Amino acid sequence: HRHLLGIEGLSALELTALLDLANEAVDLSRQVEKKRSTLRGRTQINLFFEASTRTQSSFEIAGKRLGADVMNMAVAASSIKKGETLIDTAATLNAMHPDIIVVRHNQAGAVHLLARKVGCSVVNAGDGAHEHPTQALLDALTIRRNKGRIEGLVVVICGDILHSRVARSNILALSALGAQVRVCGPSTLLPAGIERMGVTVFRDMTLALRDADIVMMLRLQRERMNGGFVPSTREYFRFFGLDEAKLKLAKPDALVMHPGPMNRGVEIDTLVADGAQSLIQEQVEMGVAVRMAVLEALARHLPNSSPQ
Ligand code: CP
Repeated sequence: HRHLLGIEGLSALELTALLDLANEAVDLSRQVEKKRSTLRGRTQINLFFEASTRTQSSFEIAGKRLGADVMNMAVAASSIKKGETLIDTAATLNAMHPDIIVVRHNQAGAVHLLARKVGCSVVNAGDGAHEHPTQALLDALTIRRNKGRIEGLVVVICGDILHSRVARSNILALSALGAQVRVCGPSTLLPAGIERMGVTVFRDMTLALRDADIVMMLRLQRERMNGGFVPSTREYFRFFGLDEAKLKLAKPDALVMHPGPMNRGVEIDTLVADGAQSLIQEQVEMGVAVRMAVLEALARHLPNSSPQ
């Protein structure tokens, strides 16, 4: 593949190969000397139209660890603010001969559109409520390293499923790798027809958590609820917030995940977020490794790359 636009279309074999490559990058990232030269001489542009802490910084660190020249486009200070379109911006950057562009955009499908307009590799760093493939890969790697496998595990994704690209990409990746995926949330935050993705749907968290190996909590994406139903924080926490009492309903060795950013006291209690069962900081560490693996895999398809 020249691009990574989504988990959709990737086989279990391809996903596993990326996770294996990322596993090696974890070891490299824990060494004093963290650099490889796979992307030496290459130019990577990070083009983020939406806010990001984890994804943008980890793509920058990943590119630099592989020897690329990384440029973070300051969208807020760019000519996009003067009315330049996404396509004209892409064409402008393309004329500077980048090798890889990493894009986040608030519109589903915008990254696919951009990929058709440029000559380089494109990585989707999140497009609207559609996909966030590197998040799903880092979540899969975190689960595999802690549970030793993904196949057969019961994974509950709980919260604002309707607006979540993380949920969509995780459902695709974890199902392909053999997990039993459940989704849980209030009816107003469950997309119509989500069952067709092969998940079991719950509206009651106390039922969803039974026998769960992994509990993945999602933030309420208020910025995507324009005009729609917005639940009250206190009521939401009571029914769908993960606290210690609810976590006891899952398996005793269940592990807690959250892609971030967290809203403590809304979807997750602070004691659980920082508790012994939480993998949240490890997810961030795996984010760098997975992004290194994705950049390395794409580098094999860049023109004039030396044989690996
Ligand atoms: N999980 C995630 O995508 O976080 P950021 O929005 O901070 O990149």
